[in-house]
Amino acid sequence: MEGLAGVVAGSSAICSVGTGEGLLYRGYSIEELARRAEFEEVAHLLVVGHLPTERELAHFKQALQVYRELPLIVKQVLQALPVSTHPMDVMKAGVVALGCAYPEELDFSNQDTCALRLLGALPSILIYWHNLHKLGKHAGLNSDKSMAHYLLEGLRTGTPLEEEVKAMDAMLTLYAEHEFNASTYANRITASTLSDLYSCVSTGINTLKGRLHGGANEVAIAFVLRFHSVQEALQEVDALFAKKEKIMGFGHRVYKKADPRSAVGFELAEQLKHLGDPKLFEIAIAIRDKVKQEKGLPDNIDFFGGLVYHYMRLERLYYTPFFVMSRAVGWMAHAFEQRAHNRIIRPTSTYTGASKRSFIPLQDR
Ligand code: COA
Repeated sequence: MEGLAGVVAGSSAICSVGTGEGLLYRGYSIEELARRAEFEEVAHLLVVGHLPTERELAHFKQALQVYRELPLIVKQVLQALPVSTHPMDVMKAGVVALGCAYPEELDFSNQDTCALRLLGALPSILIYWHNLHKLGKHAGLNSDKSMAHYLLEGLRTGTPLEEEVKAMDAMLTLYAEHEFNASTYANRITASTLSDLYSCVSTGINTLKGRLHGGANEVAIAFVLRFHSVQEALQEVDALFAKKEKIMGFGHRVYKKADPRSAVGFELAEQLKHLGDPKLFEIAIAIRDKVKQEKGLPDNIDFFGGLVYHYMRLERLYYTPFFVMSRAVGWMAHAFEQRAHNRIIRPTSTYTGASKRSFIPLQDR
């Protein structure tokens, strides 16, 4: 029961996982979506409820592009943050400021607009802060490109290659939804109190930040980057095993044999390795094989996923914010589903504290 392992904590029609059919978003396999769809199609599928027609997709993308421009108050908040702020805290601050500028109505009548506004603004929050604090300039936020392209263009130098845009789309898709994971469940609890959508999303961000959840990818890639050879990496894995320390990017609460997203992440890293140092890919494979062989633990999406971002020359501390931009569609789909059949989520606990006793006045303690 610890960590609610194995507890069925509600029902949902958004995503199925661990049923023997792989990971499905509203019935569509993650592999097909990652290989064949643009992230915006997946976002529409999850938030609106179906795969868009060409017309619906054009409309959806246009709305997101309009909301890329940030309100002045959001820019002012981002300007006020110290350079040292963790990018996940930047995301959180941006979402809170956005909710102050354009709050959701108490009857949720503008929830669809709030969802579009959030999805459009999330990449801009990071791009604006990055340009201001790292490059000393105000970024233009009016791109008409896809979200994957917009991110690559806004956060590094050089025109994005087609293979990079495709890989970014696939990564955003892989991270978009995952049933009752910690951040989504936390977001559903917030939704169940009838709080607003911005609060649901910032709950998700706060929960995702930890390294046992979203923060694992930046730690996993930092681990791989430490080594110059396979031998050096394997020695360090042995040392960590001896100290009984965890290796980030391995293990999963639901997937005990394989994370279905990992195979796609692996394929993407292999395709992009020519853009960087291919030796890192070899080192990652060696670590994966050793952890699997000795501990029986499969790699999860964060292991090769981190390498994909690295090969695209993206800043390591931005990996978890990319997770936010993607998982936000899952959070919002769950918040809407919770609202549609709401009962406040309020479990009970087994009490293990002191038995009833008398109060002792301050002067007598
Ligand atoms: N490295 C080494 N050992 C690990 C491990 C890892 N990454 N993940 C789990 N284990 C070991 C645990 O130490 C434990 O061993 P024990 O039974 O000897 O005590 C056993 O495997 C079960 O692990 P546990 O932490 O109880 O599993 P969980 O279901 O509670 O947690 C995770 C799942 C994902 C939190 C856990 O595997 C983990 O911390 N992984 C690293 C973080 C990560 O990659 N998170 C991203 C998930 S997508």
